[in-house]
Amino acid sequence: MLLEWVQLRPDQVHIPSSWTKVARRFHQGNATLLILGGPDAGKTTLARYLIGELAPAGPVAFLDGDMGQSTLGPPATLGLAFVPSQRSLPNFLNPALYFIGATSPMGHFLPTVVGHRKLLDAARAAGARTVVIDTTGLVAGGAARELKQRKIELLRPDALLCLQRAGELEHILRPYRAAGHPQVVELPVSRSARPKSPDQRREHRERKFRDYFRKSKEHHLSTQTRALWNFPFFAGRSLLPSRRNSLASGLHTSLLHAEVVEGHANAVAAADVPFPVRVALARQMGLESLSVYAAADFQNRLLGLEDSRGEILALALLQKIDFQRQVLKIVAPLANMGDVHGVRMGDLRVDRAGKQLSLSRKG
Ligand SMILES: Nc1ncnc2c1ncn2[C@@H]1O[C@H](COP(=O)(O)OP(=O)(O)OP(=O)(O)O)[C@@H](O)[C@H]1O
Ligand SMILES: [Mg+2]
Repeated sequence: MLLEWVQLRPDQVHIPSSWTKVARRFHQGNATLLILGGPDAGKTTLARYLIGELAPAGPVAFLDGDMGQSTLGPPATLGLAFVPSQRSLPNFLNPALYFIGATSPMGHFLPTVVGHRKLLDAARAAGARTVVIDTTGLVAGGAARELKQRKIELLRPDALLCLQRAGELEHILRPYRAAGHPQVVELPVSRSARPKSPDQRREHRERKFRDYFRKSKEHHLSTQTRALWNFPFFAGRSLLPSRRNSLASGLHTSLLHAEVVEGHANAVAAADVPFPVRVALARQMGLESLSVYAAADFQNRLLGLEDSRGEILALALLQKIDFQRQVLKIVAPLANMGDVHGVRMGDLRVDRAGKQLSLSRKG
């Protein structure tokens, strides 16, 4: 299916002559090309075109840096497909993934830049001569500028391929124009580029998640011998029974779990607890802080399952947590949990049909 992905149908895709020129210019290889553009500017279409054109000249890699409208992996991941030669394009079916755990870079800048760097290093280590990096359409505003510029600082691309409509990238590009590096390559947005509605974007994510989890099985995953990342519990000591009872009665809800790390208490309760109640209780109990998570926020939580090197083996959906036995009940498209050495908790909830569910809060 991804073979089709790079084989653009000439009757369906408009290739401006400047795109052909860029492909010719970077045909020699050894270039990292970062595509920039606003939403629906044709970034992914350009990436497809370039991969298809550059693949015959040597190993190329496609770094899918869009964790929302993702191409390679499920949403909430970055993906890397290494293409040894045009004939082995089906290798696209097994991309390396980096788990972001969210479908937007907003609030997730660190995993976004770290993930890009790790995947670019992996592409280079595998021998890719040219790496084409697709990005999200987040270009408006200071936060977007910071993210794009930090990414450029870290990845040091040779060229920025800019699909610009009306100056929307200029605030990001200004320093590179002044410095002369990386090269800024201006490309027109094709007249055939079409906007996607928010519903179409949501449907794309749902379909990708649904397909991904279609063949999932239920597993029980013990956390005691596994590395846990971004977990708000299983990091401290259990509260003494008397303290736990005071906490439960002060919160007016039953507690599933309560632990303390250096005076900071984390609890999982049957219901959400209003912020002022938590603050008052923390003060009363002499705690530095008190975080209370609603148990429902962990149901259907997206997880990343890692191997011993920290590489993503698969995504999973958390069904239930057995706090006593420290076991997670999950569904994942893996035959068994033997190779799972680490678990990373994502910041979104998804059901098996791919639908994104609400999260009351992060902490
Ligand atoms: N050169 C082109 N010829 C034909 N169709 C195009 C071309 N460029 C873009 N399109 C169409 O416009 C739409 C948006 O293009 P594309 O998905 O490549 O944009 P994008 O910048 O990657 O969007 P996003 O911001 O969602 O990542 C798609 O339906 C695509 O098929
Ligand atoms: Mg895109």
